[in-house]
Amino acid sequence: MNKNLKVIILAAGQGTRMKSKVPKVLHKVLDKTMLDYVIDASLKAGASDICVVVGHKSMLVRKMTGDRVKYALQKEQLGTGHAVMQAEDFIGNEGSVLVLCGDTPLIRPETIEKILSFHSVSKNAATGVSFIKEEPTGYGRIIRDDKGGFVKIIEQKDGTPSELAVKEVNSGVYIFEAAVLKEALSKLSTGNAQGEYYLTDTMELIKNSGKAVGVMTAEDEAEFLGVNSKLDLSVVTKALVKRINEEHMLNGVTITNPENTYIGQNVEIEPDTIILPGTTLEGRTKIGTDCVIGPNTQIISSEIKDGVNIKMSVIMNAYVDNYTTVGPFAYLRPGSNIGEHVRIGDFVEIKNSNIDDGTKVSHLTYVGDSDVGKNVNFGCGTVTANYDGVHKYRTTINDNAFIGCNTNLIAPITVGENAVTAAGSTINKDVPPHALSIARKRQVNLDGWADKAGKK
Ligand code: UD1
Ligand code: CA
Repeated sequence: MNKNLKVIILAAGQGTRMKSKVPKVLHKVLDKTMLDYVIDASLKAGASDICVVVGHKSMLVRKMTGDRVKYALQKEQLGTGHAVMQAEDFIGNEGSVLVLCGDTPLIRPETIEKILSFHSVSKNAATGVSFIKEEPTGYGRIIRDDKGGFVKIIEQKDGTPSELAVKEVNSGVYIFEAAVLKEALSKLSTGNAQGEYYLTDTMELIKNSGKAVGVMTAEDEAEFLGVNSKLDLSVVTKALVKRINEEHMLNGVTITNPENTYIGQNVEIEPDTIILPGTTLEGRTKIGTDCVIGPNTQIISSEIKDGVNIKMSVIMNAYVDNYTTVGPFAYLRPGSNIGEHVRIGDFVEIKNSNIDDGTKVSHLTYVGDSDVGKNVNFGCGTVTANYDGVHKYRTTINDNAFIGCNTNLIAPITVGENAVTAAGSTINKDVPPHALSIARKRQVNLDGWADKAGKK
């Protein structure tokens, strides 16, 4: 139904009230920028073409947002109406245009669809969206006549006390017929308290030109919370955390304390997994069934299969196969590919390495740029020395090898299958299969030395 849906997203403002060097729309809610939420919701609602109006630090906003949208530049931020004027070419003369704000990240695609059908069923030239806010300060107020018909939108700074007492506020979401919008924009002026071109005034102008203008009142206020300050950002984050966690719980995931568990919108979790407090799951993370994740664990864009247990650890861009345990206090860095029934214990760091099934890396070990076979046992304190200051080299450890405590493996190097390295060895030559390699100074005991040195 929305095959030709054009969307304009306003994102040029600095967001002075954020008191930040980062442009407002780039502030993150959980793991994604506010602007990305609005773009994703538009795409899910079937947007065919999106134009983001950028201005303040526009290059940074474009860089962070990428090329899945078009951009229009608003050189000076002269108001929301002026921002839409910059997208004039994009608006064209046919069809309808949806306008959204980049600082309203919680809008749902289903709601966008509802607004579109309200607009077309009502045959409006322009449709606004309002919601009821008990504490309406900061929002534009929807002024209606005795019969409930739309009259105008009054901004906080321009309102009389009786207008400001109105609790029906403007969400900042609108849909316009393209040609009607363009005409109204050309009539905007700056005669208001802020000296700005207000997009809100187009609604009144269109109505006064005799065309149908309506305002749809939305039910869920949380969806339209606008972020103007870091305080608002925390309110929006809390609302999103609640929304996402409730969905997972209804889907069969146990979340012990949903108020301090932070799960990004693109994370997938299978039923019967338990998420313990203090856990943050980000990016395109996928978690299987029967896992126990947390407490205090951060997982970014990783795939975790079934029955995995991860405690107090950080995992990024990694893969962990069935029934493996990780942590406490482990760090799996990008390119870690961990097999089934593996044990990654405390203070272990793995980077860009394959660790095959049944291997145990139980404590205080660094494995970087390595290919480790099945059922290998790492003693405590093993280090793969993969970097000579210029180049990185790989370490290969074959099946069933036994790496003694405090072994340094100087890459490039291969330890053969079933080979053993003695504790405290610095191994810089390949170890043949089934061999024992000892590379350390022999111990010398000097009889009576301590007494002669005056030690008791
Ligand atoms: C705006 C509405 C208000 C509504 C509220 C909902 C106007 C005049 N007021 O107020 O009725 O209740 O949103 O959240 O529209 N922007 C630009 N260029 C500009 C100015 C703003 O691109 O010159 C962008 C901002 O980056 C932001 C959005 O427009 O993403 C809204 O601007 P903001 O200044 O936050 O408007 P509000 O005061 O919240
Ligand atoms: Ca705002």
